[in-house]
Amino acid sequence: MTHPKNLADQLCVVSVLILFCQMGVLSQLQVGFYANSCGLAEFIVKDEVRAAFAKEKGVAAGLVRMHFHDCFVRGCDASVLIDSTPSNTAEKDSPVNNPSLRGFEVIDNAKSRLEAVCKGIVSCADILAFAARDSVEITGGLGYDVPAGRRDGKISLSSETLTNLPSPTFNVNQLTQSFANKGFSQDEMVTLSGAHTIGRSHCTSFSNRLYNFNGTNSQDPSLDATYAARLKQQCPQGSTDPSLVVPMNPSSPSTTDVGYYIDIQANRGLFTSDQTLLTNPATASQVNLNARNPILWGRKFVAAMVKMGQLDVLTGTSGEIRTNCRVINS
Ligand code: HEM
Ligand SMILES: *[C@@H]1O[C@H](CO)[C@@H](O)[C@H](O)[C@H]1NC(C)=O
Repeated sequence: MTHPKNLADQLCVVSVLILFCQMGVLSQLQVGFYANSCGLAEFIVKDEVRAAFAKEKGVAAGLVRMHFHDCFVRGCDASVLIDSTPSNTAEKDSPVNNPSLRGFEVIDNAKSRLEAVCKGIVSCADILAFAARDSVEITGGLGYDVPAGRRDGKISLSSETLTNLPSPTFNVNQLTQSFANKGFSQDEMVTLSGAHTIGRSHCTSFSNRLYNFNGTNSQDPSLDATYAARLKQQCPQGSTDPSLVVPMNPSSPSTTDVGYYIDIQANRGLFTSDQTLLTNPATASQVNLNARNPILWGRKFVAAMVKMGQLDVLTGTSGEIRTNCRVINS
């Protein structure tokens, strides 16, 4: 028989552990992980993001999306960075990533500088997590601490991308399910979708809404007609030219703000997966709340980014510290 006092003590220990977990104290990753082993790690990554952004603002959006595509497929293990080989088609060569994913050279440059100063210490997965944070920050969003200590995976399969990443044709239920599969609430899904306030899209990701929507309408009736007309000029029917791209939040495509939600309110969400958030009472009220409350959205967004950055991470002695982010160590 457990003595009541012991039981109380045990419950206390359990609740303290739960509290610590919620505070991230017991999470496997740690803020400042490289403080003693490679003090310049985060500075070097930020410096490379800054240099790349000065040349081409779009890399910031590219790196935020790259982190998302890394984390949702096999966890944040830099599997998205691995190059295909004659015997394996890697994630980056799946149609969802190629040719749209960008920013790989920023990671490569940061990695070579880090290998020069702290050989074998800083993982590619952490470099990507830092670079995504720096990209949010440099586009005028909030800065935030990134818990680190991720290790790099040794597997990257193109076939795993389609099953783990949401499609731009998804409706609200499919999006909710896709994020629930990774442990995110519907509200967090709406919050993270706000990343579409920066960057661009290829015409092929939404041209179905312009030309071959469904049996009744060639054009998606939920898309603002003026905006649709402009998109049709930018994206001629039948064109699969990969150089055809449009900004996602045309009024401020390089600023992390709540423009995404304001676009949706105006029926100018670019993808079905954006505009569909207005079709459900709960997600519509989140869209409206975020649109008028940038500070609240910013807080929720960085919290959700930190949470996303912890998905199925490899730590301790699992995985490896890749020497070249594109290649598994031999
Ligand atoms: C909710 C489900 C989501 C869907 C269906 C989706 C789909 C897409 C698609 C189709 C593109 C355009 C790719 C192209 O054609 O160039 C895109 C771009 C982008 N996505 Fe998402 N996405 C989703 C969620 C997210 C999340 C959670 C993030 C990050 C937290 C994110 C960040 C981005 C960024 C920043 C871009 C612009 C990339 C660039 O400019 O290179 N997306 N997304
Ligand atoms: C086409 O889409 C519209 C608007 O979403 C809908 O009302 C209509 O029933 C759809 N038609 C078909 C054939 O699915």
